[in-house]
Parts: sequence; structure tokens; C-alpha cells
Amino acid sequence: MTAPTMHAIRQHEFGGPDVLVHEEIPRPTAGPGEVLVRVRSIGVNFADTHTRENKYVQKAHLPLVPGQEVVGVREDSGERVVALTQGGGAYAEWAVVPEARCVPLPDGLPDDQALGLLVQGLTAWHLHRTCGRLEGGETVVVHSAAGGTGSLAVQLAKPLGAGRVIATASSAEKRQVALDLGADVAVDPDPEGLTERLGEANGGRGVDVVIDMSGGPVFEASLRALAPFGRIVVCGIAGKEQNEVRTGHLLRHSRSVIGFWLFHTLEDPERRFRAPLLDLFERAARGEVRVHVGGRWPLAEAGEAHRALVERRTTGKLVLDVG
Ligand SMILES: NC(=O)c1ccc[n+]([C@@H]2O[C@H](COP(=O)([O-])OP(=O)(O)OC[C@H]3O[C@@H](n4cnc5c(N)ncnc54)[C@H](OP(=O)(O)O)[C@@H]3O)[C@@H](O)[C@H]2O)c1
Repeated sequence: MTAPTMHAIRQHEFGGPDVLVHEEIPRPTAGPGEVLVRVRSIGVNFADTHTRENKYVQKAHLPLVPGQEVVGVREDSGERVVALTQGGGAYAEWAVVPEARCVPLPDGLPDDQALGLLVQGLTAWHLHRTCGRLEGGETVVVHSAAGGTGSLAVQLAKPLGAGRVIATASSAEKRQVALDLGADVAVDPDPEGLTERLGEANGGRGVDVVIDMSGGPVFEASLRALAPFGRIVVCGIAGKEQNEVRTGHLLRHSRSVIGFWLFHTLEDPERRFRAPLLDLFERAARGEVRVHVGGRWPLAEAGEAHRALVERRTTGKLVLDVG
């Protein structure tokens, strides 16, 4: 008897979007503590573009089925679930995931909403609450505010305590998306004059929390925009330029720099993974947050999704459809 196969995206080398090739490969099987999921759709995250080049936090090994986020049906129980894979494996018709990272979906929650809330929603939640430690009425700056993570961070800011939300995004269309999602003001993230634009957008005062995903000069300009006791939360380095911070600067201005990586939430999965995710499901059910799906492609065209993402042409959640 021949072993069952499936369609998947694989990469046999690291590099640009063209290394993502559509192939027929053996279907994976679940081991102890794992679940086999028949995938219905897959979330594309910016991290996947770093992994494609082997420049992500977690080093990758070839050949690789990319991706970390799926919605589908558990093969064993028939339950509809959203799940976070371990070390890739999501860009495929079937995915094996650790059972602890597999969350059943409430009936009213559509697949796309669940996909957007997993990596990007959980990240936005922790950026405000766990890392930004938002206090009532504070001003928060959300960079890349029209993107997957940013669009949810904008929507969650006030429900989680912010008084004012300043968005940045690199085009007028994206800034309009951020305003439509509830930002009070939206400005250009060009590092030239960014500190001043953020101050002006906050009535001439320093800002309390900045959520930074770009790094490089955007980080520098944002750090300088912080009020005393302000916090900048670093969750991405889309520009691939890291920063160095002088402790004297932090002390002199009473500023904090805080890092966040989603996978650390799995070290305390009930408190930091499941509970916030269920909180997000409830917020989605009452209409407080809505995942804006900005693009969808068939699985075979994953490379096109990556191209659009790195060329800064997308807004919201990007989805790959299976079947
Ligand atoms: N630490 C974590 O656990 C974690 C979890 C989720 C996401 N993230 C990070 O959060 C960021 C957003 O992720 P996402 O998946 O939601 O993607 P996304 O926001 O939908 O897309 C990335 C956005 O980054 C902005 N950007 C800034 N500099 C860029 C550059 N040089 N090249 C391409 N884009 C650039 C673009 O927005 P503008 O054009 O408007 O600037 C772009 O829309 C990424 O940096 C990602 O790595 C981190």
C-alpha cells in the first residue's frame, strides 16, 4: 500500500519568495502528545519571511515546510481548531501540532477571525498588557498599524486601557485603514522628524508606550518620543537593523525598553497562551476586535503572499487557502 501524500509548500534552500515551491510530499503522522489537523486555511506571518531566509529568532532546517499557524479539523475528534505548529509545517494540507497548542473554536468564530487572533492577536494583547503594562488613559503609539499585528493592536489599545492611540503606517491608504480601525491620529513613520510628529500628535507631550516592529531609525526616533516612565516594546525588526541602547539614556529619561517573543508565552501556557486567546475570542464575539483580512491566495501561491508582504503592499491578515 502506498503511503498517503499531500500538497505542501516546501523550501530546499533559503532565499527570496521563489524558494517556496509547491510539491506533493508524504502526509505527516502524529506522535505522542501531538494532533493531526486537516488544514482549511493557513495564516501568513511576517516571521515566515524571516524564516524563509533563515534570519528568524529560531533557526530553521532544510527541507522545510514553512508556517506556524493553521485553522482546520482535528483528525481524531473532528473538532474545529486553531493551532500553532512547532518549527514550521503549516503551509500544507495536513499539519501535526503539539496538543497543548491546539485550541478548539467556538461555533460563532469564523476561521479567518481565529487565524488572525492566534499569532497576531495574542501578540497585540501581550504587547499592551504584559509588556507595555498600559495604565488607564495613557497614550500608545502603534507602528505598522495597518498590518496584521498592528491592526489588532490599534483595536485592542483602548479596551486594554489606552486613552489615545497614535498609529503610523507608510502610505496614506494604510493610515486611513488605521484611522478606520479606531486610531485617533495616524502619521508617517519616516524616521526624519518622527519624534516631533509623535509629540505633536500627543499635544506636545511625550508618549507613554510605543509598540515597535521596525527597528533601526524608527526605534531611535520612537525612543526619543517617550515621556518619563515611558516604555518601548520591541516585537519585530522588519527593517533588519538592530539597535543598541545606552543605560545612561534610560536612566536619564526614566525610559524602558522591553522585548517580546510570542513563543515564551508557551512556558506558562494556561496563563499566557490559552487565557488571553479565549479573552480575544470573547472580544471578537462582542465585536470589540475584528480581524481585517487584507489578502488571500491559494496555498500554491504562497510566494506571491510573501512578495506582497515584504514589499509593504499588504494590510491586515494574510491567508492561504487549502483545497
Ligand atoms: N515578537 C513576536 O512574537 C512577534 C509576533 C508577531 C509579529 N511580530 C512582528 O511584528 C511585525 C508585524 O508582523 P505581521 O505578521 O503582523 O506583519 P504585518 O504587520 O502584516 O506586515 C509587516 C509590516 O511591517 C512594516 N514594515 C516596516 N518596515 C518594513 C520593511 N523594511 N519591510 C517590510 N515591511 C516593513 C510594513 O508596514 P508599513 O509599511 O506601514 O510600515 C508592513 O506592513 C513583524 O516585524 C513581525 O516579525 C513579532
